[in-house]
Amino acid sequence: MNALSSAAVRNGGGLIDDPLFAQIAADLYDTGYSVIPKALPDTLTTLLSLSQQQLNKRDYSEAGIGRLADHQTVSTIRNDEVCWIDGNTGGGKAWLNWTEGLRHYLNCHLFMGLFSFESHFAHYAPGHFYKRHYDAFKGRSNRVLSVITYLNQDWQQEDGGELVLYQNDEDTKGISVLPETRTLVVFLSEKFPHEVLPAARHRFSVAGWYRVNDTLNGRVDPPR
Ligand code: OGA
Ligand code: MN
Repeated sequence: MNALSSAAVRNGGGLIDDPLFAQIAADLYDTGYSVIPKALPDTLTTLLSLSQQQLNKRDYSEAGIGRLADHQTVSTIRNDEVCWIDGNTGGGKAWLNWTEGLRHYLNCHLFMGLFSFESHFAHYAPGHFYKRHYDAFKGRSNRVLSVITYLNQDWQQEDGGELVLYQNDEDTKGISVLPETRTLVVFLSEKFPHEVLPAARHRFSVAGWYRVNDTLNGRVDPPR
């Protein structure tokens, strides 16, 4: 972690001019997405990797699609396993701090109104995938910004497992991102369909979503 980003984390971000946050904001403003290799601060990456490595098989659960009552696991669409992140591990705590700094920064500079954040570790065993999808669920799209980073050293082209980010429903080519450690991907959740191609290796990622506060008519959303 460089001096600026650690200062940003300590102060909850916002007013500190972190060059990485600035690049993410500029990319989002220009194109709605940002893909930056070697982005995540080293210390944060190390802590996240340690926490991920300490997870046991039983800490993970089969990933689902949809939320609350809609939640179901559909192994034809995705078959990764996930572990939700709380502040109880060093890596989880550092990640939630860092994403909180980014939240403040984007709210200050792009007026995004990001309200809360949820995130999980994901493990894709060899051959596992997540078919083309949007992160914002139909009709209840309060996930507005997706953030993904990776914890895989020396990922090669032949290992597969790319994240493919499509520009719109018509795009069949997309932009391929290798899931190499420290690569950071941020995109508007409602705008970019994307998929995870099967990999030849175990593939570890951390995915998170910022949500806006859609509390309406006394129904509290996001649930707390
Ligand atoms: C997701 C997702 C992408 C990745 O969890 O919704 O699209 O590269 N993950 O792991
Ligand atoms: Mn997704």
